[in-house]
Amino acid sequence: MVNVDEFIEEAKAEIAEEIGDKHAVIGLSGGVDSSTAAALAYEAIGDQLTAVYVDTGLMRKGETDEIRETFDYMDSLRIVEAQDRFLDELEGETDPEEKRHIIGEQFIREFETVAREVDADYLVQGTIYPDRIESEGTIKSHHNVGGLPERIDFDGIVEPMRDLYKDEVREVARALDLEEIISERMPFPGPGLAVRIIGEVTEEKLEVAREANHVVEEELEEYEPWQALAAVIGKATGVKGDNRVHGWVVAVRSVESRDGMTARAQELDWDTLQRMQSRITGAHENVARVVYDVTHKPPATIEYE
Ligand code: XMP
Repeated sequence: MVNVDEFIEEAKAEIAEEIGDKHAVIGLSGGVDSSTAAALAYEAIGDQLTAVYVDTGLMRKGETDEIRETFDYMDSLRIVEAQDRFLDELEGETDPEEKRHIIGEQFIREFETVAREVDADYLVQGTIYPDRIESEGTIKSHHNVGGLPERIDFDGIVEPMRDLYKDEVREVARALDLEEIISERMPFPGPGLAVRIIGEVTEEKLEVAREANHVVEEELEEYEPWQALAAVIGKATGVKGDNRVHGWVVAVRSVESRDGMTARAQELDWDTLQRMQSRITGAHENVARVVYDVTHKPPATIEYE
């Protein structure tokens, strides 16, 4: 991308020409890629675009409200409240790949419902260059809206950012005046907090994971990590007040990386670690301890599942 304004004008022209007077849908995840693609497409075709945000219940604290506020200007925005359906489908499932599969399938079902309702002819996707490289090598089953094109008979798929890298997408997002909370946001996996909960996803573990991730993102902002996160990794004994509890163990992870393919655990100072420990154990009565993950990738991955 040579010039951001030129890119935006060309991308809008391409979207408008391809879609003409037809109707398009886009899945909005809250991340920078799909948000930027949605903002671009909306500038190009206005209410001929329906942006669909599925609240899976696996989102970060406040994420759904931020989306609602950021995209409030789009009359055609659809927010699908699907938290109960996702939790029901995930009930009892402990296998990491199965959890990913269930989430991907349910996401497609929710998205299809809206796409059929609005009679969408085109699918707009926020695919970027590294996604194409990764899916060619099938490194990871990125769920995004994968699988959808085969299940709905779209006239076409439009991927206006297919040649951009992440930092270029952020530049486009800034030029489109997207809120900083979106343009500067850390990467977040499609399956959301489910891959930051080892084993079954339950409401209690989700509450702990959501609160802990919020604390970590706040406390580590100044370290400018590629990604910082918290995961609920098991149970252990602790003492709360006068009682022994068998509570959750939360792992904090903060990594530096260029592309997520390899990563280095970040060195944090003791005060920061202790502040996170105190806020996370204080946030929920059933958190017994907090540990810091010092493993690089490889041998570990960035997420826990
Ligand atoms: P791992 O855990 O494989 O993660 O070291 C590398 C990067 O990919 C993100 N990630 C995902 N993103 N769907 C996504 O859209 C997924 O299933 C998924 N799994 C991991 C992860 O957050 C990190 O940035």
